[in-house]
Amino acid sequence: MRLKIIGSAAGGGFPQWNCNYRLSREARAGTPGIQPRTQSSLAASADGNGWVLFNASPDIRQQIAQTPELQPAADGPLRSTPIRAVVLTNADVDHVAGLLSLRERQPIAIYSTTEVLRVLEANSIFNVLDPSIVSRRVLPPDQETAICDGEGRETGIVVESFAVPGKVALYLEGTSDPQADFSSDKGDTIGVRIANGQDKDAAFYIPGCARIDAGLRMRLAHAACVLFDGTLYTNDEMISAGVGQKTGARMGHISMAGENGAIAGLADLAIGRRVFVHINNTNPVLDENSSERAAVTAAGWEIGRDGMEIEL
Ligand code: MLT
Ligand code: MN
Repeated sequence: MRLKIIGSAAGGGFPQWNCNYRLSREARAGTPGIQPRTQSSLAASADGNGWVLFNASPDIRQQIAQTPELQPAADGPLRSTPIRAVVLTNADVDHVAGLLSLRERQPIAIYSTTEVLRVLEANSIFNVLDPSIVSRRVLPPDQETAICDGEGRETGIVVESFAVPGKVALYLEGTSDPQADFSSDKGDTIGVRIANGQDKDAAFYIPGCARIDAGLRMRLAHAACVLFDGTLYTNDEMISAGVGQKTGARMGHISMAGENGAIAGLADLAIGRRVFVHINNTNPVLDENSSERAAVTAAGWEIGRDGMEIEL
């Protein structure tokens, strides 16, 4: 199975359009060791021909342009694509807005939870992907689903989805509920186990996760590869950077560092490769020469970057 990180940044990308924090500024200036990144998405292929996308970011057009494997074959039909299906891990803008760029009556399939499919259903703009051509299919939790293209042909990629602690998309948050839970596990945010039907080895893709609990640790215990929520290094990072008022916890994202962070939470597990994805433009690890980057690397983690390939 081939996996390709086609977008490694969190919502907004890196640099973000209106962000003048030092990291975005340096990325814009082309400072060595600070690489720009597009928004959160992963591609997987069982046979090297057909690809399944995990999330469709607003940068999808650029991501396809940067990834020859996702482009129509030079000798292919007039309308064609190697993209067979899109699996959505939540309804955040950075994960669904790219669907709109996949219009033009291409029979791909969209898979997600009933909660996320309901959000697409409620926003009629997504009907530019005519539901009679682009099938929308429920990924039932906690069981394996063979991912098929829009015409029902298997892609060879098998996915098991599971709810992780998280929240509804920002644009669906109520403003008046003081009890709102930003780390519930009701199916608004999922993680996925991605496997090639024939192989035992699997990768876990979890670009949004509010905390690591016992159930998640059990799932990840012997994983060949884990691609995990690397939004923030510390919980109050956006506040101390002066670019926002929200903590990571309020946004439904765990931090990398600290006793409740992802590094500590998964440290003792026998995971083959651990890679952070969905990295926010305030995260100091984006600077390859930072002490935080050195600490994360020393803890055995890789920092995802656009175009990074993983073969299992
Ligand atoms: C998130 O991951 O928290 C969201 O993508 C934020 C957003 O929608 O801007
Ligand atoms: Mn996001």
